[in-house]
Amino acid sequence: MSELLVVQDLTVTFPTTRGPVDVVRGVSFAVGRDETVGIVGESGSGKSMTSLAIMGLLPKGATTRGSIRLNGTELLGRPDRELRRLRGDQMSMIFQDPLSSLNPYYTVGLQIEEMYRAHRGGTRKAAREVAIRALGHVGLPEPERRVDYYPHQFSGGQRQRVMIAMALVCEPALLIADEPTTALDVTVQAQILRLLAGLQRESGTGLVFITHDLAVISSIATRVLVMRRGEQVEYGTAEQIFAEPEHEYTRMLLESIPRIDDSLDDPPHGSLIGSPDDEVIL
Ligand SMILES: Nc1ncnc2c1ncn2[C@@H]1O[C@H](COP(=O)(O)OP(=O)(O)OP(=O)(O)O)[C@@H](O)[C@H]1O
Ligand SMILES: [Mg+2]
Repeated sequence: MSELLVVQDLTVTFPTTRGPVDVVRGVSFAVGRDETVGIVGESGSGKSMTSLAIMGLLPKGATTRGSIRLNGTELLGRPDRELRRLRGDQMSMIFQDPLSSLNPYYTVGLQIEEMYRAHRGGTRKAAREVAIRALGHVGLPEPERRVDYYPHQFSGGQRQRVMIAMALVCEPALLIADEPTTALDVTVQAQILRLLAGLQRESGTGLVFITHDLAVISSIATRVLVMRRGEQVEYGTAEQIFAEPEHEYTRMLLESIPRIDDSLDDPPHGSLIGSPDDEVIL
């Protein structure tokens, strides 16, 4: 498989009053083009810090060691202006909290247009057409009208769709979705998952899907990284991890999860689920 993203021995360190603390320690994994990789682990295990390190968006003061290569290019240590050029274009992220990453004072259309024009240029009129298409693509009804809505005029599930539309507008090679469904109820969760999987299949984007829910991972990922307290507990194919978890912690996670596979039509491990066409609109 040709690898799109290769993370090797990644360590993220924060200075604290009691000295430096490694919140991510020696994590290694890879994402192929066209592949979905799941990162799973309890709260505070370092999932978001790992993804923020990839995006070059770690909080101030954090330092990194190791290597993160996207399409063969090392990202660690690159100047911010270069990373800014890659973000939104080559790699995109759906953040854990959509409200904090959408600007409440601008319409969603304007925010999508700005993101698009920053990387692709063109006229505002053309970018608006792109924004309307993007909103329609993620299953929002009447995108011509909703393009002029402000973030608070959408429901939680709709806001997730707006975030997905914005992340995908430049067709990035890599998309990181950081717990995009945690705040949503189970039905909406399943719909967003189906939508993401469908879009991923269509566009061949490499997808990193982060969750604390192994059941969700089992339905979409081909490879899985299990994290705990900043460390990599286990990494392998979904088949391996679900059939023969090597680590006690993974076994515990597997045993403790409520299964939502039924609502996803029980797809085989590693396959992509459903199609975005038969979406119920939120
Ligand atoms: N600005 C910061 N300074 C110091 N430590 C931090 C900072 N932000 C986060 N951390 C620590 O980094 C660790 C990993 O946090 P991270 O946000 O990556 O967890 P997570 O796996 O995404 O959890 P969750 O599932 O709750 O989102 C946590 O122990 C957290 O306390
Ligand atoms: Mg997190």
